[in-house]
Amino acid sequence: MEALKGIRILDMTHVQAGPTCTQLLAWLGADVIKLEPPQGDATRGQLRDVPNADSLYFTMLNCNKRSIVVNMKSAEGKQVFVDLLKKADIVMENFGPGVLDRLGFPWDKIHQLNPRVVMGSIKGFGSSGPYADFKAYENVAQAMGGAMSTTGVPEGPPFVTGAQIGDTGTGLHLAIGLLAALRQRDRTGEGQYVEVAMMDGVMNLCRVKFRDHQRLFRGPLSEYSVKTAQGMGAVPRAGNDSGGGQLGNAIHCKPHGPNDWLYVVVQEAVWEGLANRIGGDALAKDARFAKIADRRKNQDEMWQIITDFAKNYTKREFMAILNPLDVPCGPIMSTEDLANDEHVRGRDMWVELDHPQRGKWWNVGMPIKLSASPADIQRSPLLGEHTDEVLRSVLGYDDAKIASLKQAGAFSAPPKKAA
Ligand SMILES: CC(C)(COP(=O)(O)OP(=O)(O)OC[C@H]1O[C@@H](n2cnc3c(N)ncnc32)[C@H](O)[C@@H]1OP(=O)(O)O)[C@@H](O)C(=O)NCCC(=O)NCCS
Repeated sequence: MEALKGIRILDMTHVQAGPTCTQLLAWLGADVIKLEPPQGDATRGQLRDVPNADSLYFTMLNCNKRSIVVNMKSAEGKQVFVDLLKKADIVMENFGPGVLDRLGFPWDKIHQLNPRVVMGSIKGFGSSGPYADFKAYENVAQAMGGAMSTTGVPEGPPFVTGAQIGDTGTGLHLAIGLLAALRQRDRTGEGQYVEVAMMDGVMNLCRVKFRDHQRLFRGPLSEYSVKTAQGMGAVPRAGNDSGGGQLGNAIHCKPHGPNDWLYVVVQEAVWEGLANRIGGDALAKDARFAKIADRRKNQDEMWQIITDFAKNYTKREFMAILNPLDVPCGPIMSTEDLANDEHVRGRDMWVELDHPQRGKWWNVGMPIKLSASPADIQRSPLLGEHTDEVLRSVLGYDDAKIASLKQAGAFSAPPKKAA
C-alpha cells in the first residue's frame, strides 16, 4: 500500500464504473475519501441480500475508502466540498451529463479552485458529440461499443458478456489516465481533466473486432467458423472462436453439464502431438488437417473429432491429457469453481472480510501485484462513517464549526415539506 501513499482522492463516484477505479487506487495506497449524498451511493441499497445491511454491490466496490456525507445542494455543503477539493490531488465523478454544472462545479471552476488537482470523469459517451447528453449503464456501453454485436452466435441475438467491460473496464482506463496526469502534474504543477467515455473504453476492448472489420474489405476471414465474405460489412458473431491467429473452441466434456467445457487452442506447434494422442498416426497424417490453412477450412470436422474424444473425460481429465502435450487449454470455471480454487486462494484473489452489518463476506482480490506495495484489503465504510474524522483531520474543523455546519444541513437531506 505504499505506491500511492500521500495521494488524496476526493471520490464523488457512484454505482460501478467510478468506484471500481477508486477501489483499485485505494489498494495501491491512495487515501480515498468517498463523498456521498445524504442518502448514500444508490448501490448501498441495491440487490440487498441481508436486510438493512450495505449490499454486496456496494461492499465489493468500495473497500479501503473513507465515507463522508456532504449535501452538495446546500451552500454549506458546497463550502465543505471546496475545502476538501483544495486538499485533494485527484477529484473524481461519474455523474450523468450536466450534473456537475448544475451543482456549480464545472472543470474550469474546479481547476481555478485548485490548479494542481487532476479531475477524473466518466461519462457514457464523453462530453462532446451527438450522444453526449445520454446517460449510460454497463450494457448500454456494451451495446454501443461493439461488444454485443460481436458476441453470441450468428443466428441468435446479440449477447452481453459477464465481464463488466463497460463499467469496470472504463474504471481501469480511467486509472491509467489519472496516474499519467498525476505524473505530469508532478512535473508541471498543473492538473488536467481526464475523461473516459464508456463507449470509447468498450471500443478499445473490441480492437481486434475492428481488425476483422477492415480485413473484410479484402476477403473472407479464414479462421472464423461461421461463413464470412468480402464486403459483408459488419463483423459477425462467431460463438467461441478464438478470435486470434490460432484456432480455438470450447469442447463439451463429461458429464455434459452447463460448465463442463474445456477451452482448447489448437496451436500450430501442438497439432501433431494432439492429433497423435486423440486419433493416432492416421489423424496426424490426415491431409484435411495437415497445415493450419487446412484445419481452418475443415475446422468443423476437426472440432467434432476432438469433441468425440473428449466426451469420455471430465474437463479436468481432458485438461490433464492436454497439459503434457503443451496444448493451451483451460476449463470453463464457474463462480463456484473459482471461489473454491486453490490457485485463486493462493493468489489472494478471493479474500475473506468482516463487516459490522453483514458479518463475514468475500471480495475478489487485487489483480495487480506490486512486489513492494502489496494490497491490504479492508472492508468498505458505512455511510458517513468518517465524516467527523475527515472534517477534523483533513480540514482542521473544530467542534463548534462542525456543529454549526450540521445545524445548517451541510451533511443531511433537508426535511421533506408537508404535503
Ligand atoms: C449512472 C447514471 C445513469 C445514474 O443516473 P442518476 O441516478 O439519475 O444519477 P445522476 O448522476 O444523473 O444524478 C445524480 C443526482 O444526485 C445529485 N447528487 C450527487 N451527489 C450529491 C451530493 N453529495 N449531495 C447532493 N446531491 C448530490 C446530483 O446533483 C444529481 O442531481 P440532479 O439530477 O438534481 O442534478 C448516471 O450517473 C450516468 O450516466 N453516469 C455516467 C455514466 C456512468 O458512469 N454509468 C455507469 C454507472 S455504473
